[in-house]
Amino acid sequence: MIEYDIRNVLEDDFKQLVDVAENCKPITNMTPSVYHLFTRYFRNTSFVIEDRSNNDIIGFLLGFISQENPKESYIHLLCLDHCLRGNGVAKILVNNFIDTVSTRGCNKVSLVTKPHNKISIKFYTKLGFESSCTDKTVEIDGINVYKDYEGLGDDKIIFIKQI
Ligand SMILES: CC(C)(COP(=O)(O)OP(=O)(O)OC[C@H]1O[C@@H](n2cnc3c(N)ncnc32)[C@H](O)[C@@H]1OP(=O)(O)O)[C@@H](O)C(=O)NCCC(=O)NCCS
Repeated sequence: MIEYDIRNVLEDDFKQLVDVAENCKPITNMTPSVYHLFTRYFRNTSFVIEDRSNNDIIGFLLGFISQENPKESYIHLLCLDHCLRGNGVAKILVNNFIDTVSTRGCNKVSLVTKPHNKISIKFYTKLGFESSCTDKTVEIDGINVYKDYEGLGDDKIIFIKQI
């Protein structure tokens, strides 16, 4: 198992985050400017995992606290290099985020994921997240899927956890 450290993001990290995300299918990589927004403006609630031997970034979590409702937090993206998976590291990252936003007064964390990202669904379900059920959702395999959430044909699962 690789020895690693977790720290808050630094502004220049965004270039490496693009590369890490490139190897994290099935997520769709974003334009570098979005990573840059997080590393510049959401540093307190965004984290990277560094390989202790060479300081390479091998995982990250990007999140923020809502400006609409400061009691609500949101995980935008979580990615782990394959070399680290299956060791409970992503769980540590999510719990680290939850501890941080709880301290700042949040009582809820939410995120969205794609219905075909089965690993993500299993992961967040294991961590106690529940798929939000509304009049816009349909149940598929026990999970509530929000139809056309991000536009026509772009269905999403909205996961929520009270913290
Ligand atoms: C999802 C992801 C972050 C999980 O990382 P990970 O470090 O392997 O997860 P963990 O080892 O912390 O697992 C935590 C729990 O989820 C479960 N889990 C993780 N991967 C799983 C899998 N492939 N199948 C079933 N359960 C899984 C584990 O069994 C574990 O449960 P436990 O605490 O009872 O042992 C990683 O697979 C990844 O980066 N995927 C690609 C990017 C992505 O889809 N991100 C999520 C959408 S934003």
